[in-house]
Amino acid sequence: MNILITGGAGFIGSNLVWYFVKKYPSYRVVNLDKLTYAGNLENLEGLKGARNYVFVKGDICDREMVGQLVRDQGIDTIVNLAAESHVDRSIMGAAEFIQTNVGGTNVLLEIAKDLGIQRYVQISTDEVYGSLGPNGYFTETTPLHPNSPYAASKASADLLVFAYQHTFGVPAVVTRCSNNYGPYQFPEKLIPLMIANASNDKQLPVYGDGMNVRDWLHVRDHCAAIDAVLHRGRIGQIYNIGGNNEKHNLELVRLLLRHLGKSESLITFVKDRLGHDRRYAIDSSKIQQELGWTPSYTFEQGIEETVKWYLANRPWWERIISGEYREYYRKMYG
Ligand code: NAD
Ligand code: DAU
Repeated sequence: MNILITGGAGFIGSNLVWYFVKKYPSYRVVNLDKLTYAGNLENLEGLKGARNYVFVKGDICDREMVGQLVRDQGIDTIVNLAAESHVDRSIMGAAEFIQTNVGGTNVLLEIAKDLGIQRYVQISTDEVYGSLGPNGYFTETTPLHPNSPYAASKASADLLVFAYQHTFGVPAVVTRCSNNYGPYQFPEKLIPLMIANASNDKQLPVYGDGMNVRDWLHVRDHCAAIDAVLHRGRIGQIYNIGGNNEKHNLELVRLLLRHLGKSESLITFVKDRLGHDRRYAIDSSKIQQELGWTPSYTFEQGIEETVKWYLANRPWWERIISGEYREYYRKMYG
């Protein structure tokens, strides 16, 4: 199998590249990434010299370049993770989200159609379903109700995938996962941001009342789910992926502080995110029953390991927070 993984220098992408390169030595993994602020080749340094791995810097919106790459590398499989992924940034400005998440997906689908790709996996998100009240779960048949510009761009991309599958027979599958955590997550997202701030005795900005709920999944469990869908998922289907680990933000932040041995007095309640989705919770019984996937991490084990990883890899996130990210942080939190 010759797999094109797009966005492979980002958080989930780099974990997935590692996963595939190590688990399938006979596959060739080509990582196409534009290296936006969120792409970091340091995540993949340990793969230098691996014989079944190639990195290519490029934009999924560049149809000519991607088409050439697919031909040159004999790509038969595409897993699309390339995206603008941060909700708060999409509220500051949506243009790049539409360009990459919608336009870029369309380019990849055109290439899949024209060049006879045998398997196309679109990595989507549970945010396309909108927000839940205190009860219930998102299933694969929950209607789309995206609330943020980010979520709307991902829902639009999903609709394009279904249209290309239906109209042209592109052999596509869509996954919709809940919130991931683990190594190499960019420190603009809740868990690494709170670990970095607490480690530096900086305030922890909790939005609104801190009672918004997310369903957390370790990134390696997400990788294993993508593996299952790539190999055994049925064409045209959606597979929800979740950890069955609902936590409200305040509970999670307090847990991180306990692991770090820091005081709860660092917690600061700040202005809420505009249109902030209240609760996400995933029903992942379809992928469990059909493809036999189940999460392997308990939340306690995953969080403990993750905190240890960020403490042991302080230079990794310090280089990020001392760079251009400082300007974003200033705009966002003052
Ligand atoms: P990320 O922001 O950490 O990484 C995104 C990667 O895409 C970066 O390496 C970036 O350089 C690259 N990229 C951006 N625009 C590109 C373009 N035009 N061409 C090529 N590469 C480009 O994101 P992530 O958290 O790893 O998310 C990866 C995917 O998984 C996204 O599609 C996201 O919607 C989806 N997802 C994320 C989560 C989560 O909790 N993080 C949950 C469910 C789904
Ligand atoms: O559900 C899947 C989605 O999870 C993915 O599609 C997105 O790409 C990913 O970024 C993530 O979106 P969220 O908006 O849920 O993640 P984030 O880490 O930004 O925020 C998690 C929760 O924490 C959310 O309720 C907002 C809150 N939060 C976040 C930040 C950055 C805070 O209270 N303070 C903060 O500083």
